[in-house]
Amino acid sequence: MKQVVSLLALCITALLSVWLVTESQKKSGVIDAIEARRSIRAYKDTPVEREKLQLLAECGVLAPSAMNRQEWEVRIVDSKEWIDGCSAAYLKAVEGTGKADYLLKPGFKNIFRNATALIFVAAPEGAFSGENIGFLGQNIMLAATELGLGTCCLGSVRMMLAEPALADYLRSLNFSDGYTLSYALAVGYPDESPEAKPRDKSKIQWVE
Ligand SMILES: Cc1cc2nc3c(=O)[nH]c(=O)nc-3n(C[C@H](O)[C@H](O)[C@H](O)COP(=O)(O)O)c2cc1C
Repeated sequence: MKQVVSLLALCITALLSVWLVTESQKKSGVIDAIEARRSIRAYKDTPVEREKLQLLAECGVLAPSAMNRQEWEVRIVDSKEWIDGCSAAYLKAVEGTGKADYLLKPGFKNIFRNATALIFVAAPEGAFSGENIGFLGQNIMLAATELGLGTCCLGSVRMMLAEPALADYLRSLNFSDGYTLSYALAVGYPDESPEAKPRDKSKIQWVE
């Protein structure tokens, strides 16, 4: 009887050890999202639920910022009228210049890489501005991945919304004085699943 109990205890200990090792090697949801995220440039017409867009923005502002100054402003746009109107106005403004040629591919819906929603981010000039809004944007993109949404960071909106013909659209984002539009995140339900782009791991070095 004593031998059976010892054997049983041994088996339980072994099973527990295997379980503990497996659990400790499991990836967290964040690592899964980091590995799964891609820039998405084709979206379904299905609109993104407003609660999800709000949640994404709130995940954004949970990012760290220098001295917790939170020097950023975030604007969510999901109006098809706004997106299509702004897109058409830009195409008209740059007609014949070739500036928009790279966007006009089969399946083109709008200049924002065809997204159904946009999250615009602005920051003031100054130390750590780029770092602050970089962390904010990555929070949003990873949270979106976890929710099954696609995103694409669009630095191009800076140039697009600087076109004089788009001044009303830029103004409607209502950024405070001293804040400059930095980028927008295209958001939507993905209609493509691109392969991961290659990364250069030689950029990482250990210093002993
Ligand atoms: C600051 C910044 C600006 C970007 N601007 C654009 C853009 O204007 N248009 C676009 O299609 N992609 C843009 N991208 C997306 C990059 O092209 C993309 O992240 C890169 O090719 C790596 O691909 P991945 O995001 O799928 O890993 C931008 C990314 C960053 C970080």
